[in-house]
Amino acid sequence: MNILIVGSGGREHALAWKIKQSKHCEDLWVAPGNAGTAMVAKNTPINGEDFAALGKFCVSNKIELVVVGPEAALVSGIRDYFESHSDLSRILIVGPGKSGARLEGSKDFSKQFMLRNGVPTAKAATFNASQLRDAHAYLDNCQPPIVLKADGLAAGKGVIISPSIEEAKAEISDMLENKKFGEASSKVLVEEFLDGIELSVFVLTDGKNYALLPEAKDYKRIGEQDTGPNTGGMGAVSPVVFADDAFMQRVKDKVIVPTIQGLSKENIPYRGFIFIGLMNVNGEPYVIEYNVRMGDPETQAVLPRIDSDFVELLIATAKGELKSQTVPTKKELTATVVMVAGGYPGSYEKGKVITGLDKSDDAVVFHAGTKETGSKVVTNGGRVIAITGSGQTISEATAQAYKAISTIHWDGVYFRKDIGEDLTKWAKTR
Ligand code: AMP
Ligand code: GLY
Repeated sequence: MNILIVGSGGREHALAWKIKQSKHCEDLWVAPGNAGTAMVAKNTPINGEDFAALGKFCVSNKIELVVVGPEAALVSGIRDYFESHSDLSRILIVGPGKSGARLEGSKDFSKQFMLRNGVPTAKAATFNASQLRDAHAYLDNCQPPIVLKADGLAAGKGVIISPSIEEAKAEISDMLENKKFGEASSKVLVEEFLDGIELSVFVLTDGKNYALLPEAKDYKRIGEQDTGPNTGGMGAVSPVVFADDAFMQRVKDKVIVPTIQGLSKENIPYRGFIFIGLMNVNGEPYVIEYNVRMGDPETQAVLPRIDSDFVELLIATAKGELKSQTVPTKKELTATVVMVAGGYPGSYEKGKVITGLDKSDDAVVFHAGTKETGSKVVTNGGRVIAITGSGQTISEATAQAYKAISTIHWDGVYFRKDIGEDLTKWAKTR
């Protein structure tokens, strides 16, 4: 079948790379894609939120399956648009409609959803700008550190962890009154701080059954040893050593099953990925957030471990014919290291020429913010390249990734040199 992937990052290059390996994949397109997706698929310069143009493209290119990468297109209703147009309504889509996408699009909605459905999560209260005084009074009774979350989509930047009540008050005023994150912070959640280790769990669900994909750990901070500001993600490792069978069984029983049953009870149709951000607090899973898509860079670590035809899973999801299962997984571990532009996650320059991309033998090179200019590939975003290594241990996987990185260069390139180290240490202490 002909398949279209919507998006332009490392996640979409990894999706294209995996989908291209399927016997079901004929023509593969990415809208708008990057220089990496152009090597495995064909790019079409359509923005992921231009539904009318995407619809026309699907009709003229006989697309039968659309896989939506980023949350913005889902939250603004790409599925609803396709379902409401008779010439598009037969096209299979992986990704929820607007109602399901609220799990990511509104942190207040997702918190209330978790509470209604008995999914373990941090305690929280929500305030809008007219409730600023109540918010300050509430903060007076909180125990720092205090977590503040903008309700809406804020490109991964809407969470602030305040070390003191005073700072939390100043922050919440900035978010509510000065709209620090624009409309996204017109409502703010004040949340209890969870002290534990994070991991990301991924499922494909058709609203009834689910397929569990390999889990991963993301490295969010820009600096080594998890210091400095949050980013979209600087690296990922899969599997996660502390996510043993007993822990994953608790995740299924306490989180995944109640989530899917909750969607069904609340008449929210859902055919797509759910990415569950979890905190392991003394062996118990608590949900930090839901995302309605795959993670970036987690996808680049997770998909190379999947040992089955991914398109079959995607089709079953989109048709509502999924069987509950754990997806067959390769034994090798994977580690993904993200190479970013100097200055990221603050301001950075684009257009730097990237060299050495063709030299990696073993590691897989996924492009994120890149574009082709003539015969050159240049940087075109903050996160530029994601390299995935694999091996029998985390150290082997990271060594393979770092070996490939050593040949790739551009002016100002930066990457973390400690991806996976915490897990290696954790494993040694057991
Ligand atoms: P999010 O944008 O929801 O992924 O949050 C960004 C990061 O903030 C998460 O990856 C966590 O590291 C941290 N975080 C969010 N909520 C909490 C919480 N309740 N307790 C501790 N850390 C949190
Ligand atoms: N890496 C985290 C995310 O994709 O949201």
